[in-house]
Amino acid sequence: MAVFVTGGTGLVGVNLIRALVADGERVRALVRPTSPRRGLESERIEFVTGDITDIGSIRRGMEGCDRVYHLAGWVQITPWGRDQAWRINVDGTENVCRVCLEQEVARLVHTSSIAAVGHGSMEAPATEDSTWNLDTLRIPYYASKHAGEQVVRRYVEEGLDAVTVNPSYVVGPFDIKPSGGRVIIRVLTGNLPGFPARGGIGFVDVREVVEGMRAGMERGRTGSRYILSGQNMTYRDYLHLVARIGGVELPRRSAPYWLVWPAAFLATAAGCILPSFFTDFNLSVLRSGFCEHYVSAEKSRRELGVAHWPIDGAIASAIAWFDEWNYVRRTTGGWCTP
Ligand SMILES: NC(=O)c1ccc[n+]([C@@H]2O[C@H](COP(=O)([O-])OP(=O)(O)OC[C@H]3O[C@@H](n4cnc5c(N)ncnc54)[C@H](OP(=O)(O)O)[C@@H]3O)[C@@H](O)[C@H]2O)c1
Repeated sequence: MAVFVTGGTGLVGVNLIRALVADGERVRALVRPTSPRRGLESERIEFVTGDITDIGSIRRGMEGCDRVYHLAGWVQITPWGRDQAWRINVDGTENVCRVCLEQEVARLVHTSSIAAVGHGSMEAPATEDSTWNLDTLRIPYYASKHAGEQVVRRYVEEGLDAVTVNPSYVVGPFDIKPSGGRVIIRVLTGNLPGFPARGGIGFVDVREVVEGMRAGMERGRTGSRYILSGQNMTYRDYLHLVARIGGVELPRRSAPYWLVWPAAFLATAAGCILPSFFTDFNLSVLRSGFCEHYVSAEKSRRELGVAHWPIDGAIASAIAWFDEWNYVRRTTGGWCTP
């Protein structure tokens, strides 16, 4: 039987579908009319046009499928966009859960995020059992991922067989509409004005995420959640690693919170009028950038047997992919955008 995948045209989804197809699976992918299909050229993939907010299209797509990976999501670190975040990440998840129950699928793997887990320090990283403590950052994406997980829990109580995975900051190839990859491109092309003086997060190779999702489908415990994360690093160390692998200099400017806050405040005000210009810099990016958002992936290693993929390999493959697909071009002095 086929596997139904939502969000299959994004960073995690393309890598997941390619891995499924490489193992001989047939995939039914829910795509929007505007979704790119790069990396998904295979006779084993059937596309169903629809939208996660349209339950009819999910019913059509899921028919005859026995397993479901739900990845579709609104992924943006901004103070605005709450309605959209809720419609897609919460109501969309509810639609998927409802159809899974109706069509009696064997298992749903729901893609949440460490945004729904909470933050912890290097010494005491957050775990699957942590109490969610990220509400103080007031970031709609974080809150919607947390609420999306509650929806899945509710459906598990009603009899749905679902497992949740919580990836950290994902890095790797096929970042089609660059999300995490935007920072890599900025470092390569010298367009990163500075970095937070403190703060960091768990980083993970997209291939480790795919391995964890598939292991969750096979061996996860119903109703459980699993953090998928490779390495906790400060943003400073991560950006230095990107610069070293890309062969460029990292801007030395690290900025304290109080100095950047006024600019972030103005950017947020301007973003209310021109949101797309300020998705990379606003109060939400500032708050999350200075947060110590470290997590432990001990449970997914122990219970699911997920292997550790070093993060430098993920960065190198992301850079190679951006280079191959012309998102960046090598110059004598470094890199530029074409
Ligand atoms: N990237 C990370 O660092 C990270 C970390 C933790 C968790 N996650 C979670 O992992 C999942 C995938 O993330 P990603 O990084 O692969 O995101 P992405 O590259 O932004 O891709 C998002 C995917 O969701 C689809 N989508 C968005 N709105 C939709 C809608 N209304 N109906 C149907 N499809 C819709 C997009 O389709 P289009 O191609 O049409 O836009 C795309 O396929 C998300 O749920 C995200 O919250 C990501």
